[in-house]
Amino acid sequence: MSCYQLIYSSRPKVEVTESLVSEILSQAISRNNSLHISGLLIYFHGMFMQLIEGDKTAVDELFNSIQLDQRHGDISVLLQKRSEQRCMPTWLMGFSMDNEFSNQLEKQGSYIPFEEAKEICSLMPIEVGKLFLDFMNDARGR
Ligand SMILES: Cc1cc2nc3c(=O)[nH]c(=O)nc-3n(C[C@H](O)[C@H](O)[C@H](O)COP(=O)(O)O)c2cc1C
Repeated sequence: MSCYQLIYSSRPKVEVTESLVSEILSQAISRNNSLHISGLLIYFHGMFMQLIEGDKTAVDELFNSIQLDQRHGDISVLLQKRSEQRCMPTWLMGFSMDNEFSNQLEKQGSYIPFEEAKEICSLMPIEVGKLFLDFMNDARGR
């Protein structure tokens, strides 16, 4: 079944702590389930990148909330399109980051180890996967 996909990047306005990430994830897991939204959220090098996918009305509704969220700014929409199929399995919003919070967040259900997230992205349609892989392979500051 076809779906609508939106990818954006943003910069947090607040310090990204484990409890902040945990709060975002618990909000995301319950609301995304009820909106039948799946996708992928990556936090890397002080930036977020997120794919949200599902019915267009649900994606628009969620993205409106995300845009109003004071916890981040500098939101850039990188891709918006219809797709024949979802990139992520039904109703899963995978989350990945490459730093020290990972061990604790693993218990929160949707956590995907960073290297595994790269593998998942390498199997996605090129248009979507390349945006994430470029983001996750960015060597700035390393
Ligand atoms: C980087 C980032 C990603 C987020 N992703 C989601 C998400 O996938 N699903 C979700 O329901 N909320 C997500 N949120 C939280 C929403 O922005 C919002 O706070 C929440 O959905 C409650 O919306 P409301 O204030 O309109 O009720 C995210 C927040 C941030 C900062």
